[in-house]
Amino acid sequence: MSLTALLSVTDLSPRIGSEIAIDADTLLGGGHAGEIRALLVRRGVIVIRDIGLDDDQLRAFARTMGDLRLGTVKKEGDEGLLKVTMDEKENPEYAKFFFGSQLWHMDGTYEEVPPFATMLTPRVLSNTGGNTLFTNNYAAYEDLPEEEKAFLDGLTVVHTMQAALFPAKRDCTPEEFAMWSGYPARRHPLVWHHRSGRKSLVLSTSASHIVGMDPTDSHDLLQRLMAHATQPHYVYRHQWRMGDLLMWDNTGTMHRVLPFDQASGRRLHRCTLNGEEPIGGAA
Ligand code: OGA
Ligand code: MN
Repeated sequence: MSLTALLSVTDLSPRIGSEIAIDADTLLGGGHAGEIRALLVRRGVIVIRDIGLDDDQLRAFARTMGDLRLGTVKKEGDEGLLKVTMDEKENPEYAKFFFGSQLWHMDGTYEEVPPFATMLTPRVLSNTGGNTLFTNNYAAYEDLPEEEKAFLDGLTVVHTMQAALFPAKRDCTPEEFAMWSGYPARRHPLVWHHRSGRKSLVLSTSASHIVGMDPTDSHDLLQRLMAHATQPHYVYRHQWRMGDLLMWDNTGTMHRVLPFDQASGRRLHRCTLNGEEPIGGAA
């Protein structure tokens, strides 16, 4: 049995986000993967500065942490790696969806089992804007009054692509709106009962409405919960530097990117880990 020293961890804010100090060889060795996973779920976001992983190293690290998502990118050589950019030349398939990242969201609410975690490392940054914000949806749930928790527990939310994208592009064309509307809606419980026993709010701009609720009440409730969960004390704001590696637990957080200069060609490389449990915790 090899003994590895525990990682040195610095919290970035009281409720969300921790930075760890580790070098690339040690990280890719995988000896700390279990510890990093546990910290990720506890703290929502983990940042490693100045580690400077290349694409293969990013994939290798992702594989130490879980089940790397494949099959999303058609281009050979890019397997397992997504280019997060609004530049269609760099990412012809997905660039046209990333404008939606400017609103608070969880990734993959259209899927039965949303991704577990995502890791990003910057390749091109914008000189203005482009910070990424994260909110802790476990903490936001835990702080609600008990009565409200009991009420929310029974609710089901419909998530749609047009709910997620339209508010970010109100000047869209009818064709774009029709394309978004063509994606199937997905129902999820409002409260995720994780296998760990913890609970979190399943909130995202993709939340269109609450099943069976008066539309105005549904809209007001979703808006109020969004305002609650995104208060500054639940939020970590990441100011990117080249060489960063950042990962988030997509099952218990939301994120958004602040507007940036489109001409900058801002691009981050991303690996996604497949989800391990459906929302609601059922098998
Ligand atoms: C994402 C995302 C935010 C950013 O990759 O899912 O929302 O800062 N990215 O680009
Ligand atoms: Mn996203």
